[in-house]
Amino acid sequence: MYAPPPPAEKERAVQRMFSSIARFYDLNNTLLSFGLHHRWKVRTIELAALRPGEAVADIGAGTADLSILAAGAVGSEGKVVALDLNEPMLRLGQKKLSGRRIGQALCALGNAERLPLADQSVDAVLTGFCMRNVTDLDQALREIYRILKPGGRMACLEFSRPPGSALRKLYDFYSFTLLPKIGTWVSKDPTGVYSYLPDSIRKFPDQEGLKKRMENAGFARVTYENLTGGIVAIHVGRK
Ligand SMILES: C[S@@+](CC[C@H](N)C(=O)[O-])C[C@H]1O[C@@H](n2cnc3c(N)ncnc32)[C@H](O)[C@@H]1O
Repeated sequence: MYAPPPPAEKERAVQRMFSSIARFYDLNNTLLSFGLHHRWKVRTIELAALRPGEAVADIGAGTADLSILAAGAVGSEGKVVALDLNEPMLRLGQKKLSGRRIGQALCALGNAERLPLADQSVDAVLTGFCMRNVTDLDQALREIYRILKPGGRMACLEFSRPPGSALRKLYDFYSFTLLPKIGTWVSKDPTGVYSYLPDSIRKFPDQEGLKKRMENAGFARVTYENLTGGIVAIHVGRK
């Protein structure tokens, strides 16, 4: 049975998990989300309202799907920084980015809670399925706020809570019972990451909870959109 680590341990545990599954991450994402994750990411880019020439940071970029979409939106005059704590994940992201001949995209190792980026240096921050994994969510949100220029936007794609009870029951069965089995089998993972996944989703704030946490970090006009019945939500906040 998966036992959640104490907060001081969380960063190392998250690192171990992503190092273990990096090679299978994209395959498992597609299998376990029935291919929906791509649509969720496309919608995240739409809601971030990226414009040509803008500078964008993708925090917890992993295998760089959002970075690739962002690079297309900001064009050759824009800049994308794909930042992640985990080297094996980011190395795969870098490979995907370089295979696409994208102009100004770079990869950087770093922690969302101590971003290696200057104050007011980016127009938009994207983050997909990362905020659940940070040790101190409020600190990560404050850091994201710090690096945004005035008028900048943050778009956060994360698992959330389906409001309807029928879907929630089905989803709970899928995520607690089937998903850990399939994910572990495909990736041959020994770290328990696919049991950690549903557990971390339950502990993460729901739609209204995350909106409040973003407001507490300074974000204004925070809105969210539920996708796939609220299994995931995209929150957008402005500086
Ligand atoms: C579930 S993956 C998501 C990857 C990608 N954004 C996507 O949507 O497919 C979560 C990523 O967040 C990274 N991560 C976890 N904690 C982090 C932190 N504190 N700072 C930066 N990245 C972190 C992990 O290494 C991992 O690559």
